[in-house]
Amino acid sequence: MKKIAPSILSSDICDLAKLLPSLEKEAEWLHLDVMDGHFVQNITFGFPIIKSLRPKTKMFFDTHSMISKPERYFERFAEAGSNAITFHLETVEKPLNAIKQIRALGCKAGIALNNQTSAKKAIPFLHEVDLVLVMGIEAGFGGQKLIPKDLEKVRLFRKEIDSRKLSTLISFDGGVNRQTLPDVIEAGADIFAMGSAIFGKENPAEELKLLKKEFGFC
Ligand code: DX5
Ligand code: ZN
Repeated sequence: MKKIAPSILSSDICDLAKLLPSLEKEAEWLHLDVMDGHFVQNITFGFPIIKSLRPKTKMFFDTHSMISKPERYFERFAEAGSNAITFHLETVEKPLNAIKQIRALGCKAGIALNNQTSAKKAIPFLHEVDLVLVMGIEAGFGGQKLIPKDLEKVRLFRKEIDSRKLSTLISFDGGVNRQTLPDVIEAGADIFAMGSAIFGKENPAEELKLLKKEFGFC
C-alpha cells in the first residue's frame, strides 16, 4: 500500500507536538532526517528530539540517517524510538554488517542512495533489507527540485523487486510534491517522503488528507 511519510525536516519542531495528533490520523509513518554536517552539509537533530517525540505518537518512526559512520549510533537511534533505521550506502564499508546490526536491535533496516550513487550499489542488498531509499535530490536540504534521472533507479528497483518476488519497499525522498507525485508513482515507489510539500502548508494534516484522496493512498 502506498504511503506518504511526512518529513519533519521542513516542520517547526516546536509545533510538532501540537501537530502530531492530527498528522497521525492521516499518516502511519513519520520521516526523521538526522544530518551531521559531515556526510551532508546540513545539521538537523539527533536522539533527544526523536526521544521526546516518541511518547507523543504511535506513528512509525522512519529514521533516515545522513551521517558518517552511522553504525556508531544505531543503538541510540533504536533506544530513542526509531522503528526503521536507514543508512546511506556511501557511509559504511560493510553494509551487510550494518543491516544485521539494525535488525538485531529490533528495527526495520533500510539502505539509501544519494543522488550520484549508482543503483547497482544497492542491488546485492535488496533481498536483505526492508526498504531501499532513493534520493530524488542531493541529500541535505528540503525544498529542492526533483532530479528526474533519479526515477530511473526506482524503475530499476521496481523491476528487480517484482521479478525476484521480494517484499522490499521503495522509498523516494526529495522533491516530491503534488506536481511530481504522478511520476514517482508511475516509476513504482511505495513510500513518499514529503517535507516542504506538507509542512509548507498552513494545515499539514489537511494537505495529507487531500493528497491521499487525490492519489488513492492509504
Ligand atoms: C533531504 C531529506 C528529505 C527532505 C525532503 O536530504 O532527506 O527527507 O525532507 O524535503 P522535500 O520534500 O522538501 O524535498
Ligand atoms: Zn529524508
